[in-house]
Amino acid sequence: MIHSRIIGTGSYLPVRVVTNDELSRTLDTSDEWIRARTGIRQRHIAEPAQTSSDLALPASRAALEAAEVDIGEVDLIVVATSTPDFVFPSTACLLQAKLGAKSCAAFDVQAVCTGFVYALATADNFIRAGQARTALVVGTEVFSRILDWNDRGTCVLFGDGAGAVVLRADARPGVHATVLHADGSHAGILSVPGNVCGGQIVGSPFLKMEGQAVFKFAVRVLEDAAREALAKCGLGVADVDWLIPHQANMRILDATARKLGLPHEKLIVTVDRHANTSAASVPLALDEAVRDGRVCAGQKVLLEGVGGGFTWGAALVEF
Ligand code: ACO
Repeated sequence: MIHSRIIGTGSYLPVRVVTNDELSRTLDTSDEWIRARTGIRQRHIAEPAQTSSDLALPASRAALEAAEVDIGEVDLIVVATSTPDFVFPSTACLLQAKLGAKSCAAFDVQAVCTGFVYALATADNFIRAGQARTALVVGTEVFSRILDWNDRGTCVLFGDGAGAVVLRADARPGVHATVLHADGSHAGILSVPGNVCGGQIVGSPFLKMEGQAVFKFAVRVLEDAAREALAKCGLGVADVDWLIPHQANMRILDATARKLGLPHEKLIVTVDRHANTSAASVPLALDEAVRDGRVCAGQKVLLEGVGGGFTWGAALVEF
């Protein structure tokens, strides 16, 4: 039986750091309010010319280097993003060209903040079906482009960045189970309800959110998805070495760990420094924890996403 394993991770954050104090100079907000409600201290913001594929490139190169895999060996590239460079071609195709790869399959998936978990599940299924042997899976976002910087209720929450993993076919299971869900009837609580039509933006190009509805939904489904993924592989919460949920908000992370009965020390947290980087948040946090030695060989890590759609999902991965 073929399984897939994560054999390398990488990430990239834009150089420019914007603190809460910097935001409070142009916005009616404060470091105290943002920290107390979200745990966020700062976020990285891309330069105007930097696109999602630009951020994905160094993250992908770092993951390939860590995996000791040459780009020529990659036969599948899946990019999760809601802030693509263009309407088309896909950010995955643009990344493929920047990496110097040719002819491998490349496509985007769009599940907003659950995007990386959807992309990982997709690549895992390709590998288990024998249709790919080595996959590059990326979450990359420039959410700063779809924020109304005058809307204090949303713009303080997000940042830009990219994370990547290399998945390879293996006889030993790495990705033990994935679960994916969506409920489009909740589309309205988190959306960018605009598009390009007839040469103009129709609707709004900015992120709209009902914060409290999102909060309640996220905590409920993050618990459900974690329990479902664990049950699928016959494991319990006590078997989890690390929980890496989508880094939306410190209070959502804390509430999820508490509901699962998981000690706070097993939670990987980057939201304080990265803010919410949507599809990039899980692979960014994973790469940090792999590189600083917290996530080690043999450990079981539960990755979780929740986001617009509404979408949610989880993956139980052994390293
Ligand atoms: N600074 C200061 N005051 C603010 C700010 C701000 N940045 N933003 C909102 N306020 C004010 C509001 O205007 C309001 O003022 P009023 O009482 O005078 O009307 C007051 O604070 C309370 O506003 P609420 O929206 O009720 O605040 P709430 O306690 O719900 O906190 C928050 C808002 C942090 C967004 C919360 O709802 C939340 O965490 N929601 C989850 C949303 C989230 O994490 N989204 C990420 C994207 S979704 C995802 O990734 C899954």
